[in-house]
Amino acid sequence: MARRIILGLLLVLCVLSAVFVAFAWRTAIAPVEPPARSTFDTALIARGASLAAIGDCVSCHTAPEGKPYAGGFPLHTQFGTIYGTNITPDAETGIGRWTLPAFRRAMHEGVDREGRHLYPAFPYDHFTNVSDDDLQALYAFLMTREPVRAETPPNDLTFPLNFRMLIAGWKLLYLESTGFRPDPAQSGDWNRGAYLVRGLGHCGACHTPRNALGAEKLDLDLGGGEAEGWHAPALNAATTAPIPWTADALLRYLRRGADETHDTAIGPMAAVVNNLSAVPESEVRSIATYIASVMGPADEQRQKRASQIVAKARGANEASGSVSEVQRQDAKKSDLAPQSNGAAIYAGSCAVCHVALERPAGSASGNALHLGLSTTLSLPTPVNLIRVILQGIAPADGERGPIMPGYAGAFTDAQVGALVSYLRATYTDRPEWTDVDRQVRKARQSFAEAPE
Ligand code: HEC
Ligand code: HEC
Ligand code: HEC
Repeated sequence: MARRIILGLLLVLCVLSAVFVAFAWRTAIAPVEPPARSTFDTALIARGASLAAIGDCVSCHTAPEGKPYAGGFPLHTQFGTIYGTNITPDAETGIGRWTLPAFRRAMHEGVDREGRHLYPAFPYDHFTNVSDDDLQALYAFLMTREPVRAETPPNDLTFPLNFRMLIAGWKLLYLESTGFRPDPAQSGDWNRGAYLVRGLGHCGACHTPRNALGAEKLDLDLGGGEAEGWHAPALNAATTAPIPWTADALLRYLRRGADETHDTAIGPMAAVVNNLSAVPESEVRSIATYIASVMGPADEQRQKRASQIVAKARGANEASGSVSEVQRQDAKKSDLAPQSNGAAIYAGSCAVCHVALERPAGSASGNALHLGLSTTLSLPTPVNLIRVILQGIAPADGERGPIMPGYAGAFTDAQVGALVSYLRATYTDRPEWTDVDRQVRKARQSFAEAPE
């Protein structure tokens, strides 16, 4: 009897596996000779370049110090490391033998030319919204890059996640490939922005929190997420920016990486902004229009709060005017803070630069924003503040500023912790962060592993 039950169960299991394999199976699309450059229209290639910049393809598909689009960039996920692949038109190691339909299937369905399911670390849950016209331009752009022979390192995933078939189950649950549907009640500008944000721009890949299976929580769309060890702030009504964002401020920030009264883009956002600076302004304006609408207008209470914050910062500036310039310069020179006292560390190491209530957008003047105006201090987690203190801010390639020194070598963990807690308590009216010490240790480790 028991044997019969076991046999029966095994049979059911076999049938279920067969059904699943049949469901998950994708056929290969036949390889072709790499198409010649001359077969692509120059205007189409140019449009593809701009779309690739909005999609930030280069960030995930370029190894540190590697050739553009030649793959090998490690994406560290909660499930292991997945490498961005070589998407140059190299015939053997890249996508040189891919037809447009094969490229389209990868972008819309997350399946490679040979029929293998791709991991959603490749944000095809967003790219599935990209129109066929735009895909054609992207394809023309990629197929006319310099072919680079470079084998992508194998992914490092734990069992059973290394079985690509399982991704078919994930897609069944989370991949909605209905394409982008415009909202006729909204303007053309708004709809273009929505299309870019939800599609190629994949802003939600970083700015939306994820569930245990790594899928975006759609009920918390743009509600604040995580990216490469950084917190990506909420871009919806849950925004904690002390000075409310407007569409104009967002446009300046997204185009130049800075706006008069908001933090400079750092961490993974720096690359996003760097790409957007090369995109036609009208496209970025649409993105700004859409994000401003998702955030919603700041109500009277937030406006009032913002003026109070600026007034308080102005008052603090005036009071600190009583500290002599000599004293301030001395504090700046001594790179070791005298004690584990947040206020003393701030006065000695930070106050000298962080005084501006408004600074020229994108300027390299070194005139840094008063920290009361910084979103970084009002986020739900201290990670960004800790990371910026440890690493500082390097100037963008070919630019002199903005530059802030890193304090990893100057401060002990206890000093960073004291400073962070002091800043939170002094410049925001939000509850204190509870896991500062652990976050300092964690950031210090990842910083030691990945020097920049
Ligand atoms: C957030 C990181 C990320 C971004 C941004 C990204 N990709 Fe990828 N992409 C990946 C990863 C990771 C893979 C490999 C997934 C796997 O191994 O299953 C991949 C795979 C692909 C593939 C399949 C290639 C192959 O050899 O199987 C194509 C095509 C592709 N990406 C194109 C693009 C294009 C075009 C863009 C920009 C519009 C882009 N990707 C942006 C991470 C990214
Ligand atoms: C690769 C991850 C990533 C992607 C993709 C990304 N962001 Fe960000 N974004 C971040 C991080 C991290 C920060 C915090 C950076 C900082 O403090 O300077 C940030 C900050 C921002 C801010 C500032 C918020 C504030 O209140 O200070 C805005 C606005 C923003 N992003 C908009 C966008 C838009 C629009 C897109 C899509 C076009 C986008 N981001 C795509 C990671 C990302
Ligand atoms: C030599 C000048 C200088 C010093 C000293 C300095 N900073 Fe900065 N800091 C800057 C500049 C420039 C920026 C970028 C412009 C901006 O955001 O205002 C910046 C940005 C920041 C930001 C915003 C990060 C973001 O999300 O964009 C924070 C937070 C910050 N600094 C904290 C500190 C703290 C804490 C100290 C002391 C340990 C400190 N800074 C010391 C110049 C300085």
